[in-house]
Parts: sequence; C-alpha cells; structure tokens
Amino acid sequence: MSKTAIIGAMELEVETLKAKMTVSQVIKKAGMEFYDGSLNGARVVIVRSGVGKVNAALCVQILADIFQVTHIINTGVAGSLNAKLDIGDILISKDALHHDVDATIFGYKPGEVPQLGLREFPADERLMQLAKASCEKVNTDCHAVTGRVVSGDQFISSREVKARLIADFQGDCAEMEGASIAHGAYLNQIPFVIIRAISDKADDSAEMDYPTFEKAAALHSAALVEDMVASI
Ligand code: ADE
Repeated sequence: MSKTAIIGAMELEVETLKAKMTVSQVIKKAGMEFYDGSLNGARVVIVRSGVGKVNAALCVQILADIFQVTHIINTGVAGSLNAKLDIGDILISKDALHHDVDATIFGYKPGEVPQLGLREFPADERLMQLAKASCEKVNTDCHAVTGRVVSGDQFISSREVKARLIADFQGDCAEMEGASIAHGAYLNQIPFVIIRAISDKADDSAEMDYPTFEKAAALHSAALVEDMVASI
C-alpha cells in the first residue's frame, strides 16, 4: 500500500491539507512535526520542512527512514523564470537541480554535484501525469506547465540573477527546497514530483508580489495535491 509524503516549506503551504486530514499520530523530529494519517482516502504524512535545502534534505531522510514513505510530493510556491508562467499558474516538475552548486573548476556542469553522475533529478512520470490530471480537474481556471525547478538557498529578486538562472540552467521556476527533495528522493529511490504555484516573477517586483500572492498560490497547489493523493 502506498504512503505519500507531502512536504511544504512553510506552514501556509501545509495548513490547509493538515486541516483536511485525519491524523493518527504526530511525531516530532529535527524540529519538524510529522502528521501521519489519511487524506482523501490515502495514507499520507504531511510535514512542514522549514525553508531551504538543508531542512528539506533532513526532512526527506526522516520520511524515508522512519515513515517508509513510497512517494513524495513537494507542494508550495515559487518564482517564475518562464514568460509563460504567470502569477497563480502552476508548475509541475519534469526535473529539478541545484542552481547554487558550482564545481565547474573541476569540469562539472554548473549545478552538478560532483561524483553523483547526474545533474537533473528526474521527477516520476506517473506522478507528473496524476498531477496534470488533478490540475485539470480541480483548478479548471488554472494554467499548468511542466518544467524545470531550480533551487538554491536564496530568494531570487533581481532581474540579473533571474537571467542567469535561465541562461545557465534553463529553469522554469526558482524556489528553495525542490532540488534537495529530489536529490534525497533519488538517493533513497523514492518517486517524487514537485508542484509549485507561482507567487512572483523572481525579479525586482518579487519582494512586493510575494506577500500579496503567496496565500492564493499556496491554496492552488494544496487543492491539486488533495485530489491527486487519492489516485497514487
Ligand atoms: N519562492 C517563491 N518565490 C521565490 C523566489 N523568487 N525565489 C526563491 N524562492 C521563492
């Protein structure tokens, strides 16, 4: 039987889903609260990882070791790097990479973690399809794009940095956890998908747009995740 982890970086991103689930136990570990139970008929563990790549990686390892999850969904918000992705739209990950890893001096590609053998962590094809189907079903007015998540321990809010993330990594959205979750999922051989609603354009307007659109964007992705867990 499947058991799906749902990871959000911030409380806002997971509070809606936690309110809808039936909780059987709450386990605290590494400063995180893991809500174990069911949502929409499916076994789930919902957790707020905290912001950034270290929190996200620790969270995945706990989900693998203690909860033995079979699938991972990362939900939340992101800054758009793609002109086709407007505020409120949804990005479903095709893959994810670390934009703040640089071992190019040794011949590795920008973003490539040395000695790992891959730079882009591919999302699970079936989870991507389920996410697309749920998006069409629940967010009928919503525009969803499949693409690349680029992650780093930085909030992207400048035109120059945004241009670099597009040129060097062909990123479609920028956030601060996805690649770590993908990396941890890859090492533990757990299928994953990242679903991010766009809260800002990752440019000079991001600081203004993010607080305004964060909540609506987070609710968008939460609705999609609630629907899709039932089919995993
Ligand atoms: N999450 C939402 N918007 C973001 C941005 N512009 N940069 C990094 N993470 C984000």
